[in-house]
Amino acid sequence: MNKVPYLDLHAQYCTIREEVLAALEAVCESARFAQGPITAEFENIFAAYCGVKHCVSVNSGTSALHLAMLCLNVGPGDEVITVPMTFIATTWAVSYTGARPVFVDIDPERRTLDAEKLEAAITRRTKAILPVHLYGQPADMEPILRIADHHGIPVVEDAAQAHGALYQGKRVGQFGVMSCFSFYPGKNLGAYGEGGALVTNEDQLAARARALRDHGQSRRYYHDEIAYNYRMDSFQAAILNIKLRQLDKWNTARSRQARAYSKLLNGLPIGLPRRFDDSEAVWHCYVIECERREEVMSYLKGEGIETGIHYPVPVHLQRAYASLGHCPGDFPISEEFSRRCLSLPIYPEMTNAQVHAVAQALRDAVSYQSASGNQAASNDRLLHNHQEHENTTVKP
Ligand SMILES: Cc1ncc(COP(=O)(O)O)c(C=O)c1O
Repeated sequence: MNKVPYLDLHAQYCTIREEVLAALEAVCESARFAQGPITAEFENIFAAYCGVKHCVSVNSGTSALHLAMLCLNVGPGDEVITVPMTFIATTWAVSYTGARPVFVDIDPERRTLDAEKLEAAITRRTKAILPVHLYGQPADMEPILRIADHHGIPVVEDAAQAHGALYQGKRVGQFGVMSCFSFYPGKNLGAYGEGGALVTNEDQLAARARALRDHGQSRRYYHDEIAYNYRMDSFQAAILNIKLRQLDKWNTARSRQARAYSKLLNGLPIGLPRRFDDSEAVWHCYVIECERREEVMSYLKGEGIETGIHYPVPVHLQRAYASLGHCPGDFPISEEFSRRCLSLPIYPEMTNAQVHAVAQALRDAVSYQSASGNQAASNDRLLHNHQEHENTTVKP
């Protein structure tokens, strides 16, 4: 048993157990299992929470992103701009349509799309821009939207890791023409299985997404276009209804833990995540940057502390995308970041003592490193990392 697991979903379940079991039983009693009335109820409250008109619930964040691309008629020959430092589902959605993902490097501070590099990546084939609010930190949407507007290109937010995060005082999900969320169990708002949602203020896009997730039906058994079965099941909606009521409280707890980490780790020779005046992150991950990461990880593991790497290989260097023809050096900030990033445990139920235990162990690991000399500092190479960590990445 870990002293500090990366995430403790069981601890969270214990806090809502009675409600959850009653809600699951109510779904069984209703016998409305697939996209029943409880799903519509969740859509209404999640749309209101995000401050948008429509929420279209689906069976995963990947499906939500795929639908967003389809609703913009993205297809073969088109390009969609996003970042290489993300979970690969961001670009799957583009590739499923036959379009090509085009990458813009991240800003090393915010760790999200660097707006200063955006314009240079736009071509006449660019059909959409897909910034990612990585680790719960909103991308710098103002310059992104300004450039996108100037070129008449729609923006879709990948908010899979950022439920409830604020940018310029507004919740993410309101900035793009559509925005996509994941309810994978480990997310800040996680289902007890798979789930996702597309949110939008546009009536027509919402109607098309609703049809596309349900076999292209606008009327039962009348199919207007080739479509998908991407519906959310009622059990997931029942869980999400309960958890959404706790989300702000849980995000506040994460933020408190992040603040404590930053205070306790201050002064160590490691990179810490920054806070920005224009936004309030929701700390889906607390990611530090350090040299000789594998040693640090294994020291922490020895102390019973589980960590994660999000992500060991940026998307442009993944084998699946070899056909795009990228090589190391194409997106140096993402590459360097993926070599050094290390995610510390963070979850609402984590105790103060656990946060202190992680910080102390990290302090010990780093001091031990300094004492034993830093000469091996930057020897590990990206692809080497890739092989070593293929099996050690915890999906958040
Ligand atoms: C940034 C990002 N985009 C998309 C997804 C895809 O969501 P899902 O796993 O629900 O398909 C995830 C979730 O892992 C994610 O972290």
